[in-house]
Amino acid sequence: MNSLITLILAAVIGVIPQPVSMEVQEGTIRICKLNTVYKTNPEIPAEGYTVDATGKKVIVEASTDAGFFYAKQTINQLKQGSRIPKVKIVDYPRFEWRGWHIDPCRHFMSVADIKKQIDVMSQYKINTLHWHLTDDQGWRIEIKKYPRLTEVGGWRTEFDGSVHGGFYTQDEIREVVKYAADRFITVVPEIEMPGHSAAAIEAYPELCCTKEQLSDFCVWGSPDVVLCAGQDFTYEFLENVIAEVVELFPSEYIHIGGDECQKTKWKKCPVCQARIKSEGLKADAEFTAEEKLQSYAVRRMEKILAKYGRKLIGWDEILEGGLSDGAAVMSWRGEAGGIKAAATNHNVVMTPSRAGMYFDHYQGDSKVEPVTIGNLNTLEKVYNYDPIPEVLAKQGKGSYVKGVQCNNWSEYMYDEAKREYMLFPRAFALAEIAWTPLERKDFGDFLARMDEACKRLDKAGVVYHIPIPEQPGGSCDNIAFIDKTSVEFKTTRPMKMVYTLDGSEPTIDSMQYTGPLTFTESGLIKIACATSYGKLGPVRSITVSKQTPAKATAPARAWKGLRARRTDGRFMDTADIAPGAVWTVVPISGLRDLGTLEKFNKNMPDSLKYFAAEAEGWFNVPKTGVYRFNSDTDVVLIDDKIAIDNRNTVKRFSQHDIELALEQGLHKVKIIYIYNVVGGWNSLRYKPDVLMRRDGEEKFKSVTIY
Ligand code: ACM
Ligand code: ZN
Repeated sequence: MNSLITLILAAVIGVIPQPVSMEVQEGTIRICKLNTVYKTNPEIPAEGYTVDATGKKVIVEASTDAGFFYAKQTINQLKQGSRIPKVKIVDYPRFEWRGWHIDPCRHFMSVADIKKQIDVMSQYKINTLHWHLTDDQGWRIEIKKYPRLTEVGGWRTEFDGSVHGGFYTQDEIREVVKYAADRFITVVPEIEMPGHSAAAIEAYPELCCTKEQLSDFCVWGSPDVVLCAGQDFTYEFLENVIAEVVELFPSEYIHIGGDECQKTKWKKCPVCQARIKSEGLKADAEFTAEEKLQSYAVRRMEKILAKYGRKLIGWDEILEGGLSDGAAVMSWRGEAGGIKAAATNHNVVMTPSRAGMYFDHYQGDSKVEPVTIGNLNTLEKVYNYDPIPEVLAKQGKGSYVKGVQCNNWSEYMYDEAKREYMLFPRAFALAEIAWTPLERKDFGDFLARMDEACKRLDKAGVVYHIPIPEQPGGSCDNIAFIDKTSVEFKTTRPMKMVYTLDGSEPTIDSMQYTGPLTFTESGLIKIACATSYGKLGPVRSITVSKQTPAKATAPARAWKGLRARRTDGRFMDTADIAPGAVWTVVPISGLRDLGTLEKFNKNMPDSLKYFAAEAEGWFNVPKTGVYRFNSDTDVVLIDDKIAIDNRNTVKRFSQHDIELALEQGLHKVKIIYIYNVVGGWNSLRYKPDVLMRRDGEEKFKSVTIY
């Protein structure tokens, strides 16, 4: 193959999303204003276009401005300097809703940051920006009638005392909406009700059943706080908010949230119960009276929106209690909600979290990737998702699936770089799912095209994920062995891996990993993935340590059970515990009991007592060998040496597993546990423990205390 043709093919494969059809001829054509002809052709589907660059001119046809815009995006991706390959393209989207969700409530993002996202979205033919504007941890849209929503609800004091927040003025919102519209992106605002409304309630306590004055929510999760669905004031408030929202957003749909609404307050609220009675909302075999009350509240929202000629879309919980006629459903708890809604002729957008559409989930092993909310949505899983479930296709209801969307909840997306890392390149896979016909999808081919798209991200200063080498059966940076060991690596998608054993940083020219690395002496592995264009991903450093099994302690020198104590205070780190701190002995029967010294309360009222606690005892090692330890508590000491140190990290999915060679018998274990919040994670949510597994075993088990 001569170099010119190679160049052309490289250019051709760079297009994402893959067009409906693309015929490539040998040769290239210069592309410039003079030889490009734009023709309106009403026969081409909305947003579709054709490009004929096989003759002397480049002829672009479309029926809409959006179509011409998308033709330009494709041409830009085909361009090599001022030339494009000779091609004939026919193209139009599979879905009309190609969505991208942003959550500035958990972590605020600037207008410039949103515009940067819009730029990339539009290049890949994403056409809907779902702007999640209100939640428990922040209200982000200026509402003139209720200034406290942003004055109070727009800011939160974090557990460590720092202040986080911000909001968009109405002028800024107009600016974003116009910037998006100029790139053929519709912005759909989300105003959450009746749950996930703590920021609004903090600003206006009269919105809640209990009228209580809340403090800031600086933890993740769904607090047990809700808008009172019985009182008229709530609907008056929502109507006034919507009146300002519709002035800012011309979208056909307004998203009203509706997810994860805690209904315990409604059960006790006389006003809500009176509404249940007056509206005849009776529990039946399918739904509780409170679920029917939620459905009633959603119907009232639908009526408010209808006044302004707008349609309602909400999370799939709006199905509970019965779905109102014109409502559309965003199916996030799997596909069941979407299937149920589409089967009864409701429009649906598919965003199933665990089927790949939540980009706040891991894209590789949690032991090596930066912390996320959990689960695993690899690039391949995202790519393989088909938004039309077979059952709907069989029923002939597939056309009710209007599209697909990635949801980018930002609890653990602390800043722009982390968010981009989580979004790319999975957003490229989303673009292709949303646009390209099923029969044109091909993961291997996509990966080659994706490399071109990643190079464009580099030029635009956008961060993206490159896989990190993982170990089959769970990654660990602290490997131990007695005589000999081998360390194996894999990747979440086909990638070259390069490594060093001399402590130097790997480069593209370092040794290429081809199979397990064998050790008979201690060593250090530094390993990374390398892209086809020579860029390296994050480097892992793995110590491989030859050990003599640590001696066990004679039972006569050990004590039975655990000795534990606590000291009260608000500590971020063990270093914050004063040397003269007063400790109180606490009786516990297991390590996990340290996590029950205070009652877990997801609303975290200020009256709670924060503390640090320690527990010390002996555990049994059943057989001499190498054991791996795992714990999400702050510090674990084994035989008086720090084994696991999770201080100053989010104490979730700890990355500090360690292997130790231990002799059969009793070994000492001590843990330090702090009840606090780091990175929005309330550590009381999970109980502290120390887990271990013998080399070769699959599952971790709690250590057995003597
Ligand atoms: C959601 O993720 N709670 C819609
Ligand atoms: Zn109420």
